[in-house]
Amino acid sequence: MIMDNYDQVSLRGAEEILNQIKKKPDSVLGLATGGTPIGLYEKLVQSYQSGNVDFSSVTTFNLDEYIGLPAEHPQSYSYFMWNHLFSKVNIQKRNVHILPGVFNNEQEMITRFEKKLIDCGGIDIQLLGIGTNGHIGFNEPSDHLTVGTHIVELAYETVTSNSRFFNRIDDVPTKAITMGMGSIMNAKKIILLANGKSKAEAINKTIEGKVSTDFPASFLQLHPNVQIIVDRDAASFLVEKGANRISV
Ligand code: PGA
Repeated sequence: MIMDNYDQVSLRGAEEILNQIKKKPDSVLGLATGGTPIGLYEKLVQSYQSGNVDFSSVTTFNLDEYIGLPAEHPQSYSYFMWNHLFSKVNIQKRNVHILPGVFNNEQEMITRFEKKLIDCGGIDIQLLGIGTNGHIGFNEPSDHLTVGTHIVELAYETVTSNSRFFNRIDDVPTKAITMGMGSIMNAKKIILLANGKSKAEAINKTIEGKVSTDFPASFLQLHPNVQIIVDRDAASFLVEKGANRISV
């Protein structure tokens, strides 16, 4: 879906999530962080404040977290989620699942997270952003992809790109924990948002490129229910004008 601007991308993405919660009040949402979904979270908060949505039965799982940052660190993804969404709506704390950046037993923590995901019946709708290098979650380009939750070494491109949120590039964690490609691909529905010229090449490769571990987002071509919502800038490198393309 090609929208006019970022605000429209955020609105369209938020509508997908709101419709999902309306249809199934105990929906399981897979959530993302980064600059892209901030507008969508603002729309969800506005909708909640207007009395149009109830999060009390909603469960959430977040895609990823930086290794070494405790939940209260201002650049942790846990902090991000509470700051932009959870503290502003009526979600129940026990229904929020975010991988910890600091832990004692890696295997135990991963097993617990994945068991919760299975016990909840899987993700109804997974929200994604995309890295300029094609990562989704923190599944970075590689000669192989990992199915389950795992720890990754962040790509240099990711560290430089995310350094805009930190005082110095040296402060950016170099490792993260992420849901794997299998967990993402198991979501019943996926919505990926992107805006701006810097994402144009990535969106072209996601939709029109070869399916390759060199570009993890290309695997979304194999998922039966994906919506990619972009602004005109992010759509500007698309070549094919397929029947599935909706310009709004
Ligand atoms: P961004 O990050 O939304 O800050 O561009 C997206 C991503 O790296 O997945």
